Amino acid sequence: MTTTRLAPHALALALSSALFGLSNTVQAVEPAALAEIQTRVAAVEPRMIGWRRDIHQHPELSNQEQRTAKLVADHLRKLGMEVTTGVGGTGVVGLLKGAKPGKIVALRADMDALPIKELTGLPFASKARGLNMGQEVDIMHACGHDGHTAILMATAEVLAGMREQISGSVKFIFQPAEEGHSEVPKDEEAPIGARAMIAAGVLENPKVDAIFGLHLIPAFPTGTVAYRPGPILASGDAFALKVSGKQTHGGFPWNGIDPIVSSAQIILGMQTIVSRQLNLAREPAVISIGSIQGGNRENIIPESVELLGTVRTFDDGMRDETLKRMQVTAESIAAASGARAELKVLKPGYATTVNDATLTERMAPTLQQVTGGKAITAPKLSASEDFSAYQQKVPGLFFFLGSTDPKRQDPKTAPPNHSPYFDIDEAALAVGARSMAALALDFLAQP
Ligand code: NI
Repeated sequence: MTTTRLAPHALALALSSALFGLSNTVQAVEPAALAEIQTRVAAVEPRMIGWRRDIHQHPELSNQEQRTAKLVADHLRKLGMEVTTGVGGTGVVGLLKGAKPGKIVALRADMDALPIKELTGLPFASKARGLNMGQEVDIMHACGHDGHTAILMATAEVLAGMREQISGSVKFIFQPAEEGHSEVPKDEEAPIGARAMIAAGVLENPKVDAIFGLHLIPAFPTGTVAYRPGPILASGDAFALKVSGKQTHGGFPWNGIDPIVSSAQIILGMQTIVSRQLNLAREPAVISIGSIQGGNRENIIPESVELLGTVRTFDDGMRDETLKRMQVTAESIAAASGARAELKVLKPGYATTVNDATLTERMAPTLQQVTGGKAITAPKLSASEDFSAYQQKVPGLFFFLGSTDPKRQDPKTAPPNHSPYFDIDEAALAVGARSMAALALDFLAQP
């Protein structure tokens, strides 16, 4: 997950059973299968925690996940799976064929870490360094992707042991580069992360019918999972805006064209796109300018001003509309004073993470059952995920996995994802593995 910021009311949640009900006719996991999942997860749990600590101590930046990928591939091969490596960069895909024919379900984990110096003080804290955009940096698993990888490795072991009961196949997708580039890209448009996996055909041969993914989030207590139908994470697009005028003396502004005043008008104009032009009754949206660079003296009106910003929406139609209206707003306001504005979306951003409503409703009883009724309704978070790319192709469900032990820390104040103090309660890993295994089995068992 990219650039997380939790809403302060993130924990003001209602039990989702109130929304979806447990009394509907959808059959969740068979009790015997659920018991077997629990036993098998318990058996693999100590090793799962070991994998997580090992990966945590050896974090790798986006598209550099060589060691992690080898760990994953070796494990999947030992389980007797067909394994493909080097998918979409350093990605690994394992195919588990069930004893009987049926549908294909995909489970996804991301493997990359972040350019952050770890300050947790854990005995297995990272001391790793590596290259980010050509500069040597400290590296840390500050978004829990170490946990996601360990959870999916454990899930693979659990389901491989239950092969005889599986109708259909399970595709285990371990993808690189969810956090975006760690090297200056040769081609900005070339897909990375989930998009590179899709371009490499990960959703084909055999064709995937549904995909599940999760994210560790400290704002929820261990034992809970949180989900919602429809949008759960925002789209995220970075943009650059250049406003060009005509340089002149600050005492004689009429002799030039002032890009600073024009930029100020454009910044305010952009805010009226959100407040006056978008249907906020449908979904919220955010436009933020995070950087303004222009001029170097008090009495010179500069030639140009450069701005950087981000756009977040919860609906891909609104996302397209917002970007279009920003273009018109910037160009028209600049033109009014004779300036020129050039708006560029910096690279293909992440689409909205949208949970398929039908799939979510079908799987809700499974999440309730596997967590003992601790599946809660998630708030929308204005972070972004490239899991959205899979959901644009096949129905998908993405959910949050609570990772703070409320007896030790208040989830509301626990260091969030991307903090140098980010840590997880490792008891959450078993909840994640049980959830993923149960979702896969249950989806394949349903007609
Ligand atoms: Ni993440």
